[in-house]
Amino acid sequence: MGKTDSAEFTAFAEFERSGWARRGDTYDSGFGAMTAGLHGRLLDAAGVGRGSSVLEVGCGSGRLAATALDRGAVVTATDAVPEMVEVAARALPGTRVLQAALPGLPPELLAGSYDAAVGAFVINHVPDPAGAVAELARAVRPGGLVALSCWDTLDRNRAQGIFFDAVRAVGALPPADLPGTSPFAPYASPDAFATLLREAGLTAVTVHQVTWTHRVTPDQWWQDVLSGTVLTSSLIEGQTPAIIAKIRAEYDHLTAEFREGTQAALPVAALLAVGTRVA
Ligand SMILES: C[S@@+](CC[C@H](N)C(=O)[O-])C[C@H]1O[C@@H](n2cnc3c(N)ncnc32)[C@H](O)[C@@H]1O
Repeated sequence: MGKTDSAEFTAFAEFERSGWARRGDTYDSGFGAMTAGLHGRLLDAAGVGRGSSVLEVGCGSGRLAATALDRGAVVTATDAVPEMVEVAARALPGTRVLQAALPGLPPELLAGSYDAAVGAFVINHVPDPAGAVAELARAVRPGGLVALSCWDTLDRNRAQGIFFDAVRAVGALPPADLPGTSPFAPYASPDAFATLLREAGLTAVTVHQVTWTHRVTPDQWWQDVLSGTVLTSSLIEGQTPAIIAKIRAEYDHLTAEFREGTQAALPVAALLAVGTRVA
C-alpha cells in the first residue's frame, strides 16, 4: 500500500480538509493577519518581483498572492478546500485561483514553467510532504525556486506555544478524534526541512529561522486561534466547558508576560526553506 492510500494518510487529509473548510469565513482577519508577517520575506526568498510567474499552494484567504500581485508578479493561487478558494478568488479578482490538494497538483500546473512555487504554512498540513515538495519541484522551470515555510518550535513560536502550554498545564488530553502526529513533524527542524527539499531534487537549499512580533489583545488572539486554526482549535474545542475555562485561565496567565498595555506582543517564529530546480 502506498503512502497516499494508507489509513493514516486518509484520516489526516480528511481532518485537515474538513477543518479548513470551516475556517473560510474567519481565517483572514485573525490568524491570517499573523501569518502575513512572513509573506514579504517568503516572496523575497523566492525572488518574486515584477513579471515573475508564481504558483502558490495553500493560499488560504489570498494575502500572500495579493502581496505578490502588488510586486507585479503573475500569480496562480491554489488551495485544497473550495471554501478557501472562494474566499481567495473574491480577494483576488482577475487572478487564476484553483482547487488543488497537495501532494498532487493538476496536470496543467506541471508544465515546469513557473519562476517560483511558494507556500506559507501549508507543508505542515499536507499528508505526504515529500510527495508535495517533489510536485512543486516539477512545477517550476529549471533554475526556478521553491520556497516554503513552517512553524518553528513552540518555545520560540510563543504565539502558538502558549496554547499548547496552557493545555498541558491543566493536564487536558487530546480529544480521541484527533489524527496522530502530523506527517510533517519529522521535518520541522532546519536540517530536516533542508533534507526534505534536497531529497525532492532541489539544490542550493537554505533554511532560515525568521521571527516577528504579532500585536493583538489576548482576548482577540484567543478568538483568532480558535477560529483560524485546525489542530490547535480542535485540541481546545474538544474539551469539556470546565476544562476549556481552565485552559483559558492558564492562557491569560501565560500572556501576561507579553503584555504591552491592552495588547500582547507575541513572538512568532518560523522556518523558511528555499531550493532551486536543477537547471
Ligand atoms: C495555515 S493556512 C495558511 C494560509 C496562507 N498560506 C497563509 O499564509 O495565511 C493553511 C492553508 O493550507 C490549506 N491546505 C491544507 N491542506 C492542504 C493541502 N493538502 N494542499 C493544499 N492546501 C492545503 C488550507 O486549506 C489553508 O488554507
